[in-house]
Amino acid sequence: MKFFIDTANLDQIKEAQALGVLDGVTTNPSLMAKEGITGHDNIIQHYVNICEAVDGDVSAEVVSTTFDEMVAEGEALAALHPQIVVKVPMIKDGVKALRYFTDKGIRTNCTLVFSAGQALLAAKAGATYVSPFIGRLDDISTDGLNLIAEIRQIYDNYGFETQILAASVRHTMHVIDCAKIGADVMTGPLSAIEGLLKHPLTDIGLEKFLADYRKGNG
Ligand code: E4P
Repeated sequence: MKFFIDTANLDQIKEAQALGVLDGVTTNPSLMAKEGITGHDNIIQHYVNICEAVDGDVSAEVVSTTFDEMVAEGEALAALHPQIVVKVPMIKDGVKALRYFTDKGIRTNCTLVFSAGQALLAAKAGATYVSPFIGRLDDISTDGLNLIAEIRQIYDNYGFETQILAASVRHTMHVIDCAKIGADVMTGPLSAIEGLLKHPLTDIGLEKFLADYRKGNG
């Protein structure tokens, strides 16, 4: 399973990259705003900075909602850097745009996916990635992980190549459960990735090994 980090914070992106397990980055307009990245030129420069900080795909989301505008915006984003993946919302014009980008060889991430039907449409339109938002489903008492399992089954039934990018991952157990189900990618905060490190027996064991070493070696 690939690990993407879901942030526009460059320090966190660099920290995840330095860990040596990062495969890419996802951003969205809310994450950019959270970092205070506003204004067209600053946003564009920030995407380039992120691409230069990581080895891997960087999702950059369009903010237009009509086919023609999404095509123009997506083509400009894709031209910024070879690592850019154009993130397109799951709306009717978005599906048309996915097909357009696919036919042009531009890679896409279909975002705001909350049902198996939407994921099927995205795959039919040739999306590179589909992003089911599991945390936001959990927030409304709906099983987000079950959606990942449904999509996995549908894509396997028909051999769709669209990669399931489990999004809106909130914590470490989401990461583990997505891996068990067979998501191709997960995107979440640095804390969810670092949570995988933690086990009290590791800390206790290391402390004992080091104490025993010090006893014999001063
Ligand atoms: C996906 O690409 C989105 O950026 C993201 O995962 C949404 O997560 P949230 O529900 O925690 O905002």
